[in-house]
Amino acid sequence: MEDALTKIGVVGAGQMGHGIAQVAATSGFSVLLNDRDEQALTAAGNAIEASLDKLVSKDRLKASQRDGALENLEMTTDLGDFADCDLVIEAIVENEEIKLDLFTRLDAITADDTILASNTSSISITRLAASTQRPDRFIGIHFMNPVPIMKLVEVIEGLATSEATTHAARSLIEQMGKTAVFASDSPGFLVNRILMPMINEAVFALHEGIATAEDIDAAMKLGTNQPMGPLTLADFIGLDTCLAILEVLHDNIGDPKYRPCPLLRNYVAAGWLGRKTGRGFYNYG
Ligand code: CAA
Repeated sequence: MEDALTKIGVVGAGQMGHGIAQVAATSGFSVLLNDRDEQALTAAGNAIEASLDKLVSKDRLKASQRDGALENLEMTTDLGDFADCDLVIEAIVENEEIKLDLFTRLDAITADDTILASNTSSISITRLAASTQRPDRFIGIHFMNPVPIMKLVEVIEGLATSEATTHAARSLIEQMGKTAVFASDSPGFLVNRILMPMINEAVFALHEGIATAEDIDAAMKLGTNQPMGPLTLADFIGLDTCLAILEVLHDNIGDPKYRPCPLLRNYVAAGWLGRKTGRGFYNYG
């Protein structure tokens, strides 16, 4: 039922996936959060509770809404449980092959009228949709991190996405209290087409010794009123994710201006992926 979504499935319990699950559950949807790793689901449950408590303590949410959200949320390690979801949104690693494999499986598991959506930051929605038998019921719904706080959601139609699917996605986003912008199915869509070259340039500035990490961030924070400097933001997003998005821009657009900075590649090779590994451009204890 493309115009009456009630049950939402979320695949991937990482930073984005659990944030999407939290906001959907707070907005009254029945939510099933999946990860193949049991520990990731436990961590996601704890993060959601902490975030809801924070929102209650800041008077942004009533205690009854927090309790309602937790009641609306279920967790599973079994993708088979997604059979009766109205919409399933994928928020797994930014890797095209792994996403294609997941969507082929979801296509087989879910009902014919289930909408499949991807939270990909950069990968072609048309290509992902082509791995299913329902490219008309496939769409990009790209949330920003941290999902409970950020207002924006990018919507990306694939070549075959139907009007009914777009309408359902728009209603979902409105019900979640977010603002939708529409971007064409072009590498990096809108936000990352602009954001990632800025982050990459900040890494080049560090690589070339133009300034220290602290001064690069202070310059952009205090000089352009950004809430976080670009290197802090890169650590927050994850340096592996930033590199993956830049690779998509570089490979698919072909313009050398998107070449990932060698220093970014080295950080990723070293496993210094930002906050999630305790070290990126900064140390996180
Ligand atoms: N759950 C609930 N509340 C949260 C939260 C969460 N997960 N994260 C932050 N908050 C709340 C805090 O409680 C705080 O509330 P008050 O304003 O009521 O005090 C508020 O958000 C601000 O948080 P902090 O005081 O801890 O820290 P801050 O002022 O530095 O804000 C931030 C944190 C909201 C993350 C802010 O730094 C920010 O907006 N940074 C930029 C984030 C950004 O650009 N995100 C997009 C990344 S790009 C992306 O996601 C797309 C992609 O494909 C890569």
